[in-house]
Amino acid sequence: MRLLLIGPPGSGKGTQADRIHDRLGTPHISSGDMLREAVGQGTPLGQEADQYMSRGALVPDNLVIDIIIERISCPDALEGFLLDGFTRTVTQAKALEEALTRSGSKIDHVIAFDVPDEEIVVRSAGRRIDPTTGYIYHLEFNPPPPEVASRVVQRSDDNAGTLQKRLRKYHKETSPILGYFASKGLLTTVNGVGSVDEVEERIFAALKCLM
Ligand code: AP5
Repeated sequence: MRLLLIGPPGSGKGTQADRIHDRLGTPHISSGDMLREAVGQGTPLGQEADQYMSRGALVPDNLVIDIIIERISCPDALEGFLLDGFTRTVTQAKALEEALTRSGSKIDHVIAFDVPDEEIVVRSAGRRIDPTTGYIYHLEFNPPPPEVASRVVQRSDDNAGTLQKRLRKYHKETSPILGYFASKGLLTTVNGVGSVDEVEERIFAALKCLM
């Protein structure tokens, strides 16, 4: 299954991608994680991407498209993938479709998360990441276990100012792709408010006919 997860920052894409991966084994590919890794390694891509990510802007299409197309060509992704945070623009969507057509495949479905901005602010403020496993926690809604609590870190873009910019970018630049995928009959919008388990069940209900 080739599935795209789209939604505002902090809407639960990464959390649910982990759940889907656990249940189906489909590789979870996060454009944000790949870019953060490049930033951490100080590669030329990372140095350029950091200039955009640190101020809550989207990284230019050509940079992101190249790394994602390369990643989905890896052997583990040939039978399917979960793309978390990609696509974010119509240009990215068309580039992905063209690459898949060239390899004789297609996007099977797109799940969009609907979460109000007020809830996003609370989720982002409490998010903590385990740098060892990459697992995503929330101080209140999904607290890290005691053996992990001392090593969790906060993402540098999870501050109030940058989050507001990321939200504005989402509404202005990413929301339009929902109409693009809806017009192709590929989109299901899922209510992202509720427990992680509840949201997971809504996603699997939407995917039932694809599995
Ligand atoms: P990216 O890393 O993709 O960030 P994002 O889209 O802003 O999404 P997040 O990772 O912040 O949130 P999420 O939806 O995964 O939520 P999570 O599951 O963590 O991108 C970062 C930056 O990279 C971008 O700003 C941009 O600069 C660049 N970039 C990336 N992709 C790009 C692209 N394609 N094009 C251009 N630039 C790109 O959950 C959040 C919190 O909520 C957690 O604490 C979690 O525990 C909690 N939570 C989750 N579900 C629930 C629930 N149901 N109830 C309560 N709490 C919950």
